[in-house]
Amino acid sequence: MPNRPYIVGNWKMNGTRAMLAEARAIDRGAARYPSVRVGVAPPFTLVSAMAEALQTASVGAQDCHAEASGAFTGNVSAPMLGDAGASFVIVGHSERRAMHGETDSMVRAKAEAALAAGLEVIVCVGETEAERDAGQAEAVVTGQVAASLPQGEGIVPRVTVAYEPVWAIGTGRVPSVDDVGAMHRAIRAQLLESYGDEGAIVRILYGGSVNAGNAANLLAADEVGGALVGGASLTADAFLPIVLAAASPDAE
Ligand code: PGA
Repeated sequence: MPNRPYIVGNWKMNGTRAMLAEARAIDRGAARYPSVRVGVAPPFTLVSAMAEALQTASVGAQDCHAEASGAFTGNVSAPMLGDAGASFVIVGHSERRAMHGETDSMVRAKAEAALAAGLEVIVCVGETEAERDAGQAEAVVTGQVAASLPQGEGIVPRVTVAYEPVWAIGTGRVPSVDDVGAMHRAIRAQLLESYGDEGAIVRILYGGSVNAGNAANLLAADEVGGALVGGASLTADAFLPIVLAAASPDAE
């Protein structure tokens, strides 16, 4: 089922072992909706325990270093994540781009490191509010896609793009369904440009204040292949209705 919708929880810097029970509840829910692919990205400290605890949902990380090993105090490499049980890595999240100075070329290097370690990768892109107000949103986002996407032989089936407008993350504000569709079409065009025909198979997730109330609408927008969910992924009660919305796009 290569095109089944993909719903991914990004726990950010939240979660201790006490929250593994919540992850198990998410996993049991995921098992009820086999038409949806579910992933959870906890902090590094929980990757191993969560990978052991979950059976249906895949477990990923929120960042990796571009090098496989070395004198990089405090960093974690993609092969280490694979060893801990992760199957995917989110790279280029706007919080990392903004707070850790990650550039498109750094994001690309991290994505390529993740793929080289046998992991899947979710590459995040998105414009700021000022860029949208200036009418530059599509140019900024397609530029990020072009410059951050990993390159290499046979990698495309393991690449996902997440479009997350920076101004929609954690704010409760979301773009209109029309604006989401327009941006996802622009990203698809760039994927075809970057990867040729294979660009058609890359899932494009929407992220930014997705919740149980707006998920069905956002998931119905053009070219939306799933969602990257922050705040509403921390409990099964908040997250599973989003998974359900992906399973039944016509449901309320
Ligand atoms: P949010 O975060 O759902 O809390 O807005 C999304 C994200 O940053 O991935």
